[in-house]
Amino acid sequence: MVAVGTSILPLFLYSVLLFHLPLFLSLDVFLFENCTQGTNFTATSTYQANLNRIVSQLSSLTEFNNGFYNLSVGTSPDNVNAIALCTADRTREQCISCVNYTITELRGACPWNKEAIAWSEFCMVKYANRNLFGNLENDPRKCAPSPAFAMNPDQFNAAVSQLMNKLNFNATAGDPRKYASGQTKSGFDTVYGSVQCTPDLDDASCGSCLNFSTTELLNCCSGKIGCRVLSPNCMLRFESNPFENEAPEPPGPPPPPTHSPTGKASDKFFHNDSLNGIHSLFLCRNDVNTSTCQECVKNSTQTLTERCPTTTGGIIWYDECMLRYSNINFLGQMELNPAYLMWNLANLSNPEEASVNIQGLYSDLVEGAPAEPTKFLTKERPVFNGNESRYGLAQCSRDLNETSCYNCLNYLHTWIEVCCKDKKGWRVGTPSCNIRIEEYQFFNLSTPAAPPPEIQDERLSEEIWLRSSATHVTEAPDTAGIELLTSDCSTT
Ligand SMILES: *[C@@H]1O[C@H](CO)[C@@H](O)[C@H](O)[C@H]1NC(C)=O
Ligand SMILES: *[C@@H]1O[C@H](CO)[C@@H](O)[C@H](O)[C@H]1NC(C)=O
Ligand SMILES: *[C@@H]1O[C@H](CO)[C@@H](O)[C@H](O)[C@H]1NC(C)=O
Ligand SMILES: *[C@@H]1O[C@H](CO)[C@@H](O)[C@H](O)[C@H]1NC(C)=O
Ligand SMILES: *[C@@H]1O[C@H](CO)[C@@H](O)[C@H](O)[C@H]1NC(C)=O
Ligand SMILES: *[C@@H]1O[C@H](CO)[C@@H](O)[C@H](O)[C@H]1NC(C)=O
Ligand SMILES: *[C@@H]1O[C@H](CO)[C@@H](O)[C@H](O)[C@H]1NC(C)=O
Ligand SMILES: *[C@@H]1O[C@H](CO)[C@@H](O)[C@H](O)[C@H]1NC(C)=O
Ligand SMILES: *[C@@H]1O[C@H](CO)[C@@H](O)[C@H](O)[C@H]1NC(C)=O
Ligand SMILES: *[C@@H]1O[C@H](CO)[C@@H](O)[C@H](O)[C@H]1NC(C)=O
Ligand SMILES: *[C@@H]1O[C@H](CO)[C@@H](O)[C@H](O)[C@H]1NC(C)=O
Repeated sequence: MVAVGTSILPLFLYSVLLFHLPLFLSLDVFLFENCTQGTNFTATSTYQANLNRIVSQLSSLTEFNNGFYNLSVGTSPDNVNAIALCTADRTREQCISCVNYTITELRGACPWNKEAIAWSEFCMVKYANRNLFGNLENDPRKCAPSPAFAMNPDQFNAAVSQLMNKLNFNATAGDPRKYASGQTKSGFDTVYGSVQCTPDLDDASCGSCLNFSTTELLNCCSGKIGCRVLSPNCMLRFESNPFENEAPEPPGPPPPPTHSPTGKASDKFFHNDSLNGIHSLFLCRNDVNTSTCQECVKNSTQTLTERCPTTTGGIIWYDECMLRYSNINFLGQMELNPAYLMWNLANLSNPEEASVNIQGLYSDLVEGAPAEPTKFLTKERPVFNGNESRYGLAQCSRDLNETSCYNCLNYLHTWIEVCCKDKKGWRVGTPSCNIRIEEYQFFNLSTPAAPPPEIQDERLSEEIWLRSSATHVTEAPDTAGIELLTSDCSTT
């Protein structure tokens, strides 16, 4: 039996998760603290008074000082020393705000300890009753791996190790910030890394801190797609997506593009616009017919309006289409957040398929779809002796260029690894791209022919759009039910 386009899922049980990934956080997030035990002070002591002065100084910094601060208050035995370090991509305001936030949280977490340290997303703060300046310390330290595994762990680890060694070299080669960042390739993946010492260390101590933490990192983060190792004098991090503010240019797909950069920006299956400060787009699967697409867009407009009546943005995914709007201009931008993951609860009957057939199908889609004018590709992959097939579909939003489409699809494997790779069927999607793989043919092989004439664009762009009263939508013929996957409302 062949199931196509609008087949309903009950054949399978699906699990759905909606992820909000803190990938490009602009806000500080408190990560860890460590209160050194056995170093308590008492209320109304001189130490407390001195510490309060340190806290107040750290909470009201005005100078930038390249994101590094060393402060001292009082005299022995009640002296309090503090150091603070921001990640090198912070501006003055971001740094000052991170230090204020982190010292406030740390004081709350360790109210009576003379010595304590905390790390947050963008900075580290430490204070103690002893000299900290220029002293290399490897403890306390914290390893924070991502839960997701790399597709090809050995290759990925090797790339991480090589990158870290280069970065360690660069950070200790005279940079006054004792900082280096860079990237390298691991198969289809890119690894982004950064390392940074407190600049009070000399190059040798910095190198030894980085070497120590790199060893730690290669152990505790082995096979993971991202990780940080945090210690009092250095911070190391790698991710498979750019995480720094001035992130390096993402590399393009292996062969340089030879196709026309994008398909028609607007047709029956894709439309974007920016009207009255609202940016919006819809995108249909290219293998559904026009009436199904229209029905889907109509339904999604109505449903999203109902679900997100008051928010400044929203997104809804159907099997056949997706619809998105926001008061922030997202057109042309790769957006990985929020993501949905759905998978068939049944496992592959042959687990080895995951690394061969499914991986192969996935790679074909990731390499092929970005070059398609429609950014849409379906693939059938014969397996075993050709007595069975696996089927895949990949699609990027058509406002993306080839590079961003590739990066988006390539990024999905981090989720596939977590949720799906050994399942009989699954879908993973973000606002910019999605992939689906099944053991049955769920798509329509005969894709629509030439794009429709211009006049239709106009008609469509006027009639289907997301206003709170989406009243003048084209009457589409009543077709079989279209399938709602999930939706998300956002506020800015
Ligand atoms: C520091 O943080 C506190 C609490 O979050 C806030 O009330 C205060 O205004 C901040 N100080 C500065 C100088 O930003
Ligand atoms: C901070 O470090 C500098 C550089 O050695 C040192 O001269 C200064 O005294 C330190 N400041 C404080 C407040 O400890
Ligand atoms: C190290 O620094 C050199 C010289 O600035 C640079 O060419 C190289 O790309 C850097 N290495 C990494 C891994 O960033
Ligand atoms: C760090 O490790 C590298 C390579 O393992 C080595 O060449 C270098 O001397 C080490 N640096 C320090 C300061 O230990
Ligand atoms: C729609 O997307 C195309 C392709 O990215 C772009 O050229 C066009 O300006 C966009 N339209 C609007 C209204 O933003
Ligand atoms: C499949 O595509 C053909 C050709 O465009 C179309 O006639 C047919 O209605 C489509 N079927 C479905 C289920 O969308
Ligand atoms: C479009 O596809 C739907 C769903 O497969 C089908 O029910 C409908 O008849 C098709 N309409 C046209 C005009 O081909
Ligand atoms: C949208 O689709 C759902 C599920 O198929 C259906 O119950 C609902 O009536 C549809 N709404 C519109 C406006 O088509
Ligand atoms: C699928 O495999 C996982 C791990 O191998 C196992 O925990 C799970 O129970 C299996 N699920 C089913 C439905 O067989
Ligand atoms: C196809 O072949 C494989 C192994 O060669 C076998 O396990 C599987 O059951 C076959 N599938 C069908 C549909 O015959
Ligand atoms: C693709 O789009 C991204 C995001 O807009 C942009 O940074 C990048 O330079 C573009 N790449 C090409 C090859 O046009």
